[in-house]
Amino acid sequence: MSTADPEGLRVRVPPGLESIAAAELRARGIEVTEEPGGLLTRVENLVEVLLWSRVASAVTRRMGTVRADRLPDGLVSLPWKHVLRKGQRVEVRIVGRVGRRGLEGKCEAVIAKLADPRQTRGARLPPAKVLLVDRGARVEVALVAGSDLWKRGWRKVPGRAPLRENLAAGLLMAAGWQPQEWLVDPMCGSGTFPIEAAHIGLGRAPGAWHGFAAEHWPSFDTAAFERARKVARAASGKSVHVLGADRDPRQIHAARANAGHAHVDRQIKLEHVAFEELEPPAKSGLVVMNPPYGNRLGATEKTYRFIGDRLAQAWSGWRYGILLPDASLVKCLPGKPAVTIMLANGGQKVWFAVGTV
Ligand SMILES: C[S@@+](CC[C@H](N)C(=O)[O-])C[C@H]1O[C@@H](n2cnc3c(N)ncnc32)[C@H](O)[C@@H]1O
Repeated sequence: MSTADPEGLRVRVPPGLESIAAAELRARGIEVTEEPGGLLTRVENLVEVLLWSRVASAVTRRMGTVRADRLPDGLVSLPWKHVLRKGQRVEVRIVGRVGRRGLEGKCEAVIAKLADPRQTRGARLPPAKVLLVDRGARVEVALVAGSDLWKRGWRKVPGRAPLRENLAAGLLMAAGWQPQEWLVDPMCGSGTFPIEAAHIGLGRAPGAWHGFAAEHWPSFDTAAFERARKVARAASGKSVHVLGADRDPRQIHAARANAGHAHVDRQIKLEHVAFEELEPPAKSGLVVMNPPYGNRLGATEKTYRFIGDRLAQAWSGWRYGILLPDASLVKCLPGKPAVTIMLANGGQKVWFAVGTV
């Protein structure tokens, strides 16, 4: 599908990881088109994307477009009865400059009346979230099908500065990690990289235990979804070689608890040891790292110099993937990092350098 198609799905992904997210879905036979911050695909792929995209943050269904000067009444032309139940609350958010005071509330009132009257019990459901996106003379109308998709459900103990699960999974893919090779995160914090790696290696579906707004749509094929979810929940691959370490015992405690909730505590090793004392568990593999960084570049450079020196000293033959708060820090790392992608992590710009020691 193309951006010109009025309907279809928009898969939101962390900016910078569009091509990684696209490759992941294409490998499952799903056709997608990339756009900044996301992917477009057909509505038929909804269940597969919700259950299996490790990189997606949210999925919206495009309902169609309406002339901006015809709001809110123009909304009646869109197929709301397929996606709304009688009594369900509607929340409208306007993205861009479609602003007229009170327009959201008027749109909500119009849309809520267009629910399927035969589908009762809507009042018990969470509100349906609708986005009106400014596209100049027209407004694109989209309905949230699944949100917060990075929340896999295993993170019960947050740790100090955790990465989002979908960002960690996307970075493992960006670094080209293969489940048959070793993965070591020497600064693992709450365990995000090791746990996501174990789930990739074991073939566990990221959305298998997630609830989705789309499950409440009258048009949603619940039987097909349950079949797909059963397959997703049963999926299990081979064993993995994953090690997480941290010098802070509280972080290792958090990572152990999270690994238990993720049902991978027997698959990954977690050790309380500092990076400077950690020895590689094999001759090669991938070292992935999200080091702590503050606001002062000078202090951060010291951290990255220490990391680069330790890699050069002890991790020869290993590849690495390291997050950097400033692209210039690449100079601290051994070899010439082959790839750098720019991302946003919690609103801050970060780079990801991939190289070989
Ligand atoms: C930004 S946090 C990592 C967060 C992690 N990616 C997550 O998702 O929870 C950085 C971690 O590096 C650890 N750390 C800092 N210096 C270290 C060292 N020399 N050796 C081992 N761990 C270290 C800190 O204790 C902290 O847990």
